[in-house]
This record gives sequence, C-alpha cells and structure tokens, in this order.
Amino acid sequence: MHTPVQIDSPLDAASRAELESRYADLCSQGLKINMTRGVPSPEQLALAKRFLSLPGESDFVSRDGVDWRNYGGLQGMPEVRELFSEALLGLPADYVAVGENSSLALMYEALSHAFRRGVPGSDQPWSEEAVVKFICPVPGYDRHFSICDEFRIEMLPVPMLDSGPDMDIVEALVAGDPSIKGMWCVPKYSNPCGTTYTDVTVERLAAMAAAAPDFRLFWDNAYAVHHLSDEATPNQDITGRCAAAGHPNRAFVFASTSKIVLPGAGLAFFGSSPENLAWWLERRKHRTIGPDKVNQLRHLLFFGDADGLTQHMRAHSTLLAPKFACVDRAFAQAFGDTGSARWTRPAGGYFISLDITPGCAKRTVELAKQAGIALTPAGATHPGGRDPHDANIRISPSYVDLDTLAKASHGTALCAQLAAAEIR
Ligand SMILES: Cc1ncc(COP(=O)(O)O)c(C=O)c1O
Repeated sequence: MHTPVQIDSPLDAASRAELESRYADLCSQGLKINMTRGVPSPEQLALAKRFLSLPGESDFVSRDGVDWRNYGGLQGMPEVRELFSEALLGLPADYVAVGENSSLALMYEALSHAFRRGVPGSDQPWSEEAVVKFICPVPGYDRHFSICDEFRIEMLPVPMLDSGPDMDIVEALVAGDPSIKGMWCVPKYSNPCGTTYTDVTVERLAAMAAAAPDFRLFWDNAYAVHHLSDEATPNQDITGRCAAAGHPNRAFVFASTSKIVLPGAGLAFFGSSPENLAWWLERRKHRTIGPDKVNQLRHLLFFGDADGLTQHMRAHSTLLAPKFACVDRAFAQAFGDTGSARWTRPAGGYFISLDITPGCAKRTVELAKQAGIALTPAGATHPGGRDPHDANIRISPSYVDLDTLAKASHGTALCAQLAAAEIR
C-alpha cells in the first residue's frame, strides 16, 4: 500500500553529523545525473536501429486495399491492428483504431471530443456541465493530472493499494456523484507504483454503479508488454467485463509503441466497444484524412508478427531488469529494515515508487539536486503537484547506466535519511 510510511524506528542508526559528513562527500563527487523522467536508455533506442531503415521501397498495399503511400485508412491497416491489438490493448483488431504516435495525445483528444460533443450516453457535451470530475489514483502519472488541469477537470485523489485503486472509495464516489465523468487507470505495471490491478479490482471497476450515465474509464495500458522478466502478466479484459456487467461503453483503452520502438516515432491506439469506436472514428474523420501509414508499415515490417514483438520486448527487459534490481539493492542496503522507507518492486513498467518519512520528500529532492542528482519533483505523483504527506518520490531507473544508477540510488537514499534527520 502506498500510503505514508509509519515510522516505528526513526533513522537512529546514523547520527545527523555522520549523515551530513556523508552528504558532503556525495556533493564533492560532482555528479550530474538526470533521473527526472522514465525514458528509454540509448541502448534501448539502439534496439530499434533497423526500424530507421524501413519501410524502404516496399510496394505494400494493405488487405483492405489501402495504398500506404496515399490518403485513406482512418482506422489503420488491418494487418497492423492485428499485430498489436491483443498484445497492447487486449482487444480484437476490429475494436481498435490506430492513431498517430502518442497515446497521451489520443487521451487528450478523447477528452476534447467529450467536451465538445459528449460521448455515447451523454445528455450534453461535457463542456456544458457545471463541473466535471475525474478520479485520480495516487501516486499516479503527472501527465494525466496536467491534462485534467488543461480541461479544468476537478481531480479526486484515491489511494493506490497493492490491488489497485482503493475500490471502496472509488465505488462510493462514482455511485454518488454524477459530475464524476471519468477515472484514470494505468492497470498494468502502473506509473509510478508498478502495480497491476487484481482481477477483483478490474471486475469491480467494470461492474460498479455510476451516477453519470456517460462515465468512462480512461484505461491507459502504456506498459502492456513491458515485463521485467519472462513472466508476462496478461492484459485484463476490461472491455469484455464492462460489457458483461451491462456497461459496454465504459472503457476507453489506450496504448502505444513509444517505449517499444522510439518515443515520438511509435504508433498510438484507441480501443473500445463498437459504439465507442464508431463515435471515435466519426469524430476523428473531421481532423484527418491521412494518418501516417508509412509508420504503420514500418512497424509491420520491423516486427513481422506477435513473436517478433515478444522477442523485442525481451531485449528491453534484459536491459531494464538489472536496473530495477540495482535500485532495490541500494535501497535495501541504505534503509535496511529501519521501517523508514518503503518502495515497490514492480514486475514491469518503468518506475519504482518510493515512500519516505512524511514531510521529507521535497527536502530529499532538493538535497539530491544540490548533490547533482535530478529526481522527479516531489509531489508530481499527485494532482496539483501536492502530495499531502510530502512522502512520495518517483524513481525512474531506465535511462542512466548501471554504475550511475547505483550512485544515484545510494545518493537518493542518503538524502532521504538526512532529510528525516533534519526534522527529528
Ligand atoms: C502511464 C503512461 N501513459 C502514457 C505515457 C506516454 O505515452 P505516449 O508516448 O504514447 O504518449 C507514459 C509515458 O511515460 C506513461 O507512463
């Protein structure tokens, strides 16, 4: 559970003077480490080298007769949807549309359509509602929160548990307030906790009563195939469960290949029920008549088939898994069983969520910055950048090399210990 750490035995192993002396050593190392965002490392980007030479001069015409060089193909090539839809969205290809490169842009776009036109089941466009609210599991993804800010959506934080969002709270809120129109969900290897929602959580999200007739789950499956071992956590069938529970249009599912090939040059996907998909394509046809099919073909030629995708993700995992282990080792060594910190050990994704002594996260990030270690700003994992406990820090181990990561992890732990000592 990612609620604040209860400190049973404050950091009494090391005195403040000793911590200050170790911190002075850290500062003298002249570190310049950036761990602010979870981006792929250069080695991971190199895995997509061949991708850059594709599609070449292929004379490919898709099965539905669309010439990849020309206008057309609003839903995306069927071959490309077949390659990715089950793996990334847990949906059949017919229920999926390809977008441009960014799933975040599709989430933003879905909200734009909802605000201008409403979604299936809406009485009116969301812009005409007095207030629109979204449930935001915390710790969560800062970009989801900034989209809400942009649309002036009121955010209702709900704590993440090991099983996913606290469903007792979610159910009570959603059933009781018709202005709650949506909820952000990163159901698999969540950002930043690495949590995968349990079956029970998924079932409750699908089946819960909603006061708003047009309530939507924004199901951001960003880390669908980003396992850290050969043990692949399967996709949750949220759309099927919603349909079985009598809410066929409840889930908008999003994913992309940003962290599979190259961020900025991937493909993004929207998947949902037939009615939602028809709504999506109807809205979309006014904004584009020519999605980038060159990139779709490039993906098709690069991966070939589902096995090609699996092999490629294995190569990512080989590079990433040792980094997660490195942070875990450093934190275990530094914090031991003092009870002064708690961190997650994800089976996939890009982040580790670190909870330290309440009141110390901002100071820890500040101390780390002074020592040359740039971390994600404290509070970023909460709406408005305000962590009420000032306890959570998102750790992004992917980008830096292993030696640097070890230094950064030990350094971060030391800063957390010093911050705690300062308020004792
Ligand atoms: C949960 C989550 N969703 C979406 C994204 C961004 O996806 P895209 O590159 O497809 O816009 C990220 C990137 O870190 C993420 O962590």
